[in-house]
Amino acid sequence: MQSFSVYLVKTMKGKSRPDSVEVKKANIRHHDVEAEFFERAHPEGSSVYERAKVSKSIAFIAENSDVRDLCVDVGCGIGFVTSFELPLYKVVVATDISRRMLEVAKRRFGRLGSLNLVVCDAEFLPLKSEIADLVSVSSVLHHLPKPFSSIRDISRILRGGGFLYITREPSFRRLRRFFDFFDYFVVQKLSKLAKLFFSGLELCESHVSVEELDYAKVDVHYSTGFHVAQLSEVLVSSCFEVVFAYSYHWIYPDSDKGWLQQLLTRSNFVVEKIPLSNRLGRYVTAIARKRA
Ligand SMILES: C[S@@+](CC[C@H](N)C(=O)[O-])C[C@H]1O[C@@H](n2cnc3c(N)ncnc32)[C@H](O)[C@@H]1O
Repeated sequence: MQSFSVYLVKTMKGKSRPDSVEVKKANIRHHDVEAEFFERAHPEGSSVYERAKVSKSIAFIAENSDVRDLCVDVGCGIGFVTSFELPLYKVVVATDISRRMLEVAKRRFGRLGSLNLVVCDAEFLPLKSEIADLVSVSSVLHHLPKPFSSIRDISRILRGGGFLYITREPSFRRLRRFFDFFDYFVVQKLSKLAKLFFSGLELCESHVSVEELDYAKVDVHYSTGFHVAQLSEVLVSSCFEVVFAYSYHWIYPDSDKGWLQQLLTRSNFVVEKIPLSNRLGRYVTAIARKRA
């Protein structure tokens, strides 16, 4: 198996950076394979907690938009965020670099006349400038070789006053360390212990492991993550006014089924009420409005 280092090229200053084309090819291969079992591989991504967060954010954006003609979901995958946008926008363009992801999205939501699917790269969106009322980018930036310059092209298609919704990007590594530790040592041990004592009760694990999937090749910015302050700065310098930017989602189990997993997922609703918790979550989210 190839190692991640083949995807690194030396810059002029001698530093290594990911080779853009190779990263994108790896993303196509990876997500083409993952498409059919995406929700099982990433149960936290469509959990009851994540649904509540996305639903609330899209509703907030819709309420504060005077026009809701066109929405573009960049890197839509199998259409998780798209599904919240479809009832609220006249036309929804769901784009992704993986054709297989879009095929699954089509199977799920293709019956809805407002849905349009486009296979394309987030860095080169084949859309006119200043036409979208909302652009969403969920769990995509960390896959892009140059996430911050991609934000600039994404902003190109937004009209003045339109909204950008970025969500479920890994937060800054140092800040998520405690919860990574909590996940691997406390949550997993708790699940095993519960299985021992309540062997008759249903406890599920996602158990998805496919040879062809190598996350190191596609999650190029996962290890460093994104700092809320840094993301906000980039947004401000790209003509946005930041409405909200914070981190969220602290505890997640390895499945969305089973009573213990459900309980752990729901515990996030409690944790988010603790003061300052929104600085220490594992994901970052931002809602920004393009200046007119
Ligand atoms: C973790 S999934 C997230 C899917 C969906 N947005 C969600 O929230 O469930 C990342 C998606 O980004 C897509 N992707 C990766 N690199 C991309 C690129 N350069 N341009 C467009 N989409 C890309 C992948 O194919 C995949 O569908």
